[in-house]
Amino acid sequence: MSAGVPPPSIPGARLLFSLDAATAYLNHGSFGAVPIGVQRAQQRLRDEIERNPMSFFMPPGLIERIVHTRRHLASFLGADPDGSALVPNTTAAISLILQSVRLTSGDEVLLTDHGYGSNDLAVRRQCRRVGASARTVALPLGASDAEVVSRIRSALRPGKTKLLIVDQLTSATAKVLPVREIAAAARAHEIPVMVDAAHVPGMLPVKVDRIGADFWVGNLHKWAYAPRGTALLAVAPAWRRRMEPLVVSWEQEAGFPLAVEFQGTLDYTPWLAAPAGLFTLRTLGVEAVRAHNAALAAYGQRVVGAALGLAPTDLPDPGAAEAAMRILPLPSGVATTQPEAHAVRQQIADKLATEVAVNAWGGRGWLRLSAQVYNRAEEFDLLAERLPPLLASLR
Ligand SMILES: Cc1ncc(COP(=O)(O)O)c(C=O)c1O
Repeated sequence: MSAGVPPPSIPGARLLFSLDAATAYLNHGSFGAVPIGVQRAQQRLRDEIERNPMSFFMPPGLIERIVHTRRHLASFLGADPDGSALVPNTTAAISLILQSVRLTSGDEVLLTDHGYGSNDLAVRRQCRRVGASARTVALPLGASDAEVVSRIRSALRPGKTKLLIVDQLTSATAKVLPVREIAAAARAHEIPVMVDAAHVPGMLPVKVDRIGADFWVGNLHKWAYAPRGTALLAVAPAWRRRMEPLVVSWEQEAGFPLAVEFQGTLDYTPWLAAPAGLFTLRTLGVEAVRAHNAALAAYGQRVVGAALGLAPTDLPDPGAAEAAMRILPLPSGVATTQPEAHAVRQQIADKLATEVAVNAWGGRGWLRLSAQVYNRAEEFDLLAERLPPLLASLR
């Protein structure tokens, strides 16, 4: 199988990042990587705080800056700025949502088997607290959009299911789910939907308000080049007055979104520097970055897949042209449990100086490759050359 031609690199883009040149960083998806200019913007904000903490934190200056930033980020994502809140991350948003939907005994939360592990933990804890339960609907990796919607629709139990959680782009399986259609199916039964869109901002084109979810949360610190600790939670009008901040602080009486955003003396500089991330993305060209990353991830999947002896039909299609993460099945018996997957990832990092994600899903191990503007095709070529012998040595 030929891996085809990789996309041309975006000139100079690699120099925008401070990644260690000795490591092939093929895992932007896990924790992102912050461009140097954005790191500097955040540091300038920190310097400003240390010049006079009183003048930085005392109202109305900080609040105005938070609102201004939120408006900017929300408009980039097509979300209503007055119905969106800045939050540190998707993880915080899920606990906030679970607290706000007020599950009671006998209620049920529906998840998919592609969901993010810590979301499941949060759901299960909340269910234990109130006597509710969690149920998981299985979605085959290769399921079409129509099959995904139909499986989820048939799993909904109107009157009992009080929250449906779906990922817009799944973590372990890099699969794009048709969240708009799923939300419509749930809405038909008045079942609230939360969309975990952790990977979406920057990577996939999105108009959040058109999805029709009750809750949508996306990290800007993955693919939108923001400093870590920056996510946007969009909440449908019917829920806004019911949002219960996890931490109560001085803006409690202001209601959503400020009551959620302001949590006392914290480091707000990631949020305030996040527009510099969007500036970087726009300067490079949002479309150009998306096209490059998606084509390079596809190239990486093909070249590594060929080296592992996989046929093109063995390579899962993420289901969106812009997807910048792709997965490949590892040889059977390799990384079939999550602890084994972590160990394999560590071996790849240590022995091949290459950062990737490895997950166990559906009884087998999967390698996840991300592509970003700082990557080059040769990094994937080298992985393709060196991974098969490493995997053989592990079996
Ligand atoms: C689908 C999904 N949800 C949630 C998260 C958690 O993101 P964070 O750690 O920023 O809260 C991730 C992280 O990779 C993810 O992939």
